[in-house]
Amino acid sequence: MPTTTIVKSVPFHVPCIGKDEIRAVVETLESGWITTGPKTKCFEDAFARHIGVRHALAVNSCTAALHLSLEAIGLKAGDEVLVPTLTFTATAEVVTYFKANPVLVDVDPVHFNLSVEDAERKITSKTRAIIPVHFAGHPCPMDPILELAKSKGLTVIEDAAHAIPAKYKGRNIGTLSAMTAFSFYATKTLATGEGGMVTTDDDALADRVRVMRLHGMSRDAWKRYRADGNWRYEIIAAGYKCNLTDLQASLGLVQLARCGEMWRSRARIAQKYMQALTSMKAYDTLPVSPDVQHSWHLFVVLVDPTKLRIHRDQIIDELRERGIGTAVHFIPLHLHRYYQETWGYRAGEFPVAEEYFDRCISLPIYPGMTDEDVTQVVDALDEIATKFRR
Ligand SMILES: Cc1ncc(COP(=O)(O)O)c(C=O)c1O
Repeated sequence: MPTTTIVKSVPFHVPCIGKDEIRAVVETLESGWITTGPKTKCFEDAFARHIGVRHALAVNSCTAALHLSLEAIGLKAGDEVLVPTLTFTATAEVVTYFKANPVLVDVDPVHFNLSVEDAERKITSKTRAIIPVHFAGHPCPMDPILELAKSKGLTVIEDAAHAIPAKYKGRNIGTLSAMTAFSFYATKTLATGEGGMVTTDDDALADRVRVMRLHGMSRDAWKRYRADGNWRYEIIAAGYKCNLTDLQASLGLVQLARCGEMWRSRARIAQKYMQALTSMKAYDTLPVSPDVQHSWHLFVVLVDPTKLRIHRDQIIDELRERGIGTAVHFIPLHLHRYYQETWGYRAGEFPVAEEYFDRCISLPIYPGMTDEDVTQVVDALDEIATKFRR
């Protein structure tokens, strides 16, 4: 009888949900309050304390967090906002909600974060804001970005979808600029399925987000169904519907308490990958600046075309055949049809992002990975390197 080898698979991502998260959600279900309420308030307070910021405002996604931040600063039609081309479409798409223009910027060739030099070149009299993205969880060079913004009168709104917990020069991401947007999407380092948070130290910006995330209702309108609440509320603007639910917030509270422990697991996996890949000499890893703490949301390798005779796409296929799930972060925005047809971008315009995109693979990295899982990924990469070495 022919024998078949069963290859154990290592998925690209498995959310880190334990008994405490399940208990917390059940508790909320049993509490009789399942939408925005006391758990959301508690999550916001805990998040603000954790980050060390005056206000944390829970919303239903990072996309909403970015959208509401741009609304709060009063972005207008025709304004321009600088966004790195190497990001998820949400970062730029929110700019278009205002009939404003997303202006794409190339990335630096070391950490693949927003290039400050290219950003400076793209500033015009219409530029209002910069949205740096802490790509993969490696913080952007915030000092030069903030200096540039200050000198040109621009607002900085950080896209920290990948960056909890991450630090720049010892300071938590979420405390550095006017507003910061976090994501709690299923694959993120703190997951509530869907969810997001805006952090800010500015009372007026916080108030505007608080009102606009729930239909433009006056403050604390969510309390109107509580026994001790007031039925009266006032609509003060045409707002949106982006509130986080208590079901998600109860998950978030447990995840926040485990954030450090989950980070240590991911950092350990990253260390193992770094060691193994350095000796393999076929894939480059991205260096970590000495003045940052990387969140290790993603672990990216760059295929070295001078060492291997197959392309990144085939390596992904080879890994899949060996049971390893991977992803590509990201297809640069200017290579997508929408950005080309609507904003006139063309291939060849952002050479650093394009070369990166041609070579990058994101490997599995999540707290539930066992040592055997990491070894399986490393062995598969080694086998592929040996088979296809030039
Ligand atoms: C860099 C970046 N920004 C924003 C987002 C949007 O996050 P959300 O799904 O929470 O809206 C993502 C999601 O993957 C992302 O990677």
